[in-house]
Amino acid sequence: MILIDGKKVSADIKAELKIEIEELRLKTGKVPGLVVIIVGDNPASEVYVRNKHKSCVEVGINSIVVEMPAETTQEQLLEQVKYFNENPDFHGILVQLPLPKQINEDVIIRAIDPIKDVDGFHPTTVGEMVTGNPTYVSCTPAGVVELLARYDIDPAGKHVVIVGRSNIVGKPAALLLMQKKKFANAIVTVCHSAAKDISVYTKQADILVAAMGVPGFIKKEMVKEGVVVIDVGTNRIYDPTTKSGTRLVGDVDFEGVSQVASYITPVPGGVGPMTIAMLLKNTVKAFKEHGM
Ligand code: GUN
Repeated sequence: MILIDGKKVSADIKAELKIEIEELRLKTGKVPGLVVIIVGDNPASEVYVRNKHKSCVEVGINSIVVEMPAETTQEQLLEQVKYFNENPDFHGILVQLPLPKQINEDVIIRAIDPIKDVDGFHPTTVGEMVTGNPTYVSCTPAGVVELLARYDIDPAGKHVVIVGRSNIVGKPAALLLMQKKKFANAIVTVCHSAAKDISVYTKQADILVAAMGVPGFIKKEMVKEGVVVIDVGTNRIYDPTTKSGTRLVGDVDFEGVSQVASYITPVPGGVGPMTIAMLLKNTVKAFKEHGM
């Protein structure tokens, strides 16, 4: 079994980006800019946003975090988005999800100028991706494909089974992996909670992408020998034996499944760090295409 080390791959990508950003700075006198807007005080979101900011600083991206109170109205958030749409110093805009219930996420995502949509969530961006046109690919699915590529695991002709159908992971991952492109071209099945017996599908997977948000759901008996397992789950569970009293686990029962898998991603240290690396990559792309 080979452990797919997302932390290492992410560090490699960041090192590559750091060099590229320095070259761009010397050439143009400018650097890519990313604004991350966070509304309210969701603790998980605060950790994600802090990590995104830290990574931007590491590679030389000018990053700012705009923190807005939990009672922010939709109009106030729209005003911020509009301000950054028009601000030439920021090439990427990311509004951290989830948003408080008084704000319609769809309205906010649609308000982001697609040329700054480094999260890849705008319907225009999603549409371009589905039709195979160059665009921003949302960060987690892009990270999954990049991990496979860096480990030379070519999904072409393989049966990729994706568990979970979210707009952020399951759906875009399926659409990416089925494209007639390099490190894609897979036969893709998407299954989800409506399946009577999900193991009917998961057992067929050459490559299994677990993205349903249920801790340890995928067990050894549900996969075949030699499967490649990409675990997108990030679930914080209660664990009194740790200092914080909680622990991060994936959607895969790592201990069991790693006994039969040929490759597997750990949680933490698998897909998670890749999501940030892809965000940085999309921000540099935004700068190169629209900021120079
Ligand atoms: N919340 C959880 N993951 C993400 C992400 O990739 N982007 C944004 N904007 N919010 C998230």
